[in-house]
Amino acid sequence: MARVVYHLPDGTEQAVDVPAGQSVMDGSVRNNLPGIVAECGGSCSCATCHVFVEDPGAGQFDPPSDEEAELVEFLEGARPSSRLSCQLIISDQDEVHVEVADSSL
Ligand code: FES
Repeated sequence: MARVVYHLPDGTEQAVDVPAGQSVMDGSVRNNLPGIVAECGGSCSCATCHVFVEDPGAGQFDPPSDEEAELVEFLEGARPSSRLSCQLIISDQDEVHVEVADSSL
């Protein structure tokens, strides 16, 4: 379980407890938070679950797969901290902060 703090596109933030084994995307979608659309349902093919994870939180997740890295590379507004939140699986982190890119635009 981890407390995930979503910094939302409108400048507000929401904190959600996300169980281990679920993704950062799951925590957003299951709580109806804005910004993460997750069209593909988490199969790493739509890139509508774009978030930014700055250090030190970034180091708490596995590095991106080649598939994820290729999708992120072509995202508008991508930064070095860009990740696909469906690929960020919660384990035993205490608290994670993610900035949500607005994928609904
Ligand atoms: S939900 Fe589609 S790539 Fe993450």
